Amino acid sequence: MGRKKKNEKKKKHEVPRAEREDRHALYQQSVQDPGYETELATHYFEQRVGRRPMSLREDFCGTALLCAEWVKSDPNRTALGVDIDASVLAWGQEHVFTDLDEGQRARVSTIEGDVRDLHPERHDVVMALNYSYFCFKSREALRGYFATVKEHLRPDGLLFIDLFGGWESRQAIVEKRKVKGFKYVWDQASYDPITGDFLAHIHFHFRDGSKMKEAFTYEWRLWTIPELRELLAEAGFAHVECLWEDEDEHGGGAGTYSPCVSTTNDPAWNAYLMASVQVPPRVAAPGDPGAPTG
Ligand SMILES: C[S@@+](CC[C@H](N)C(=O)[O-])C[C@H]1O[C@@H](n2cnc3c(N)ncnc32)[C@H](O)[C@@H]1O
Repeated sequence: MGRKKKNEKKKKHEVPRAEREDRHALYQQSVQDPGYETELATHYFEQRVGRRPMSLREDFCGTALLCAEWVKSDPNRTALGVDIDASVLAWGQEHVFTDLDEGQRARVSTIEGDVRDLHPERHDVVMALNYSYFCFKSREALRGYFATVKEHLRPDGLLFIDLFGGWESRQAIVEKRKVKGFKYVWDQASYDPITGDFLAHIHFHFRDGSKMKEAFTYEWRLWTIPELRELLAEAGFAHVECLWEDEDEHGGGAGTYSPCVSTTNDPAWNAYLMASVQVPPRVAAPGDPGAPTG
């Protein structure tokens, strides 16, 4: 009897995990894979352009985790992260950049601003990941963003963007996935086929029963691959390749991506588009090594 009472008392006064946890740390653990994305950009840049990419601009960088991974991956690499939200950049300075040594720290910087603002610096690679550019809902706005990216790239530079689709992406679906010590919940709240507006949230659920609801909310337009190809071409990109997710032995997603020009329909897919300012010296050829394994 006494023991039970003691436990109840402890529980009563314990702060629920949802109140103790940090949403940015949970986000990083649940959805980001900067090691694979650094490997992906390096692999395809070397394949297509024939040299090692050294400078990265990470648009919509958030906590700039990819920038940090990039400068860690090579002692001569530089990275610039751009995000409009000062608070998320400050979180990165405090929690991500403190993990870098002095040399790495000197090779990474961030800008608080709109990704559509023009800066003079040009980079080998621009990456805009986790579908962040879906926030541009009109053709004009997205084309304008892509045109700015082109100005931020060197003549042989590459842009990498990711996207998802399939009929399930337009359904009200809640997907739960176990991550170490908590559940990541992807909540597709609504999709309007007339306006194209898509609303989704990320929630985090914990073993103590507490929930961090709407830790992140996204109001997007779900762009398709043909639309993106057209807009990239209109913005001046000379060549666009689709990197489609490879299948594992059970027919599921393998988590690696290889060039693909045509495929069969799929209820839920992920892909990257790789856009080049100029047609790269080497375009995909049969027998080229496929995706890096990360
Ligand atoms: C989905 S998060 C992406 C975080 C990270 N890049 C990733 O891969 O997970 C989107 C980020 O874009 C930023 N953002 C939204 N609109 C922006 C804009 N116009 N210019 C710069 N950053 C913007 C938000 O502040 C937010 O940090």
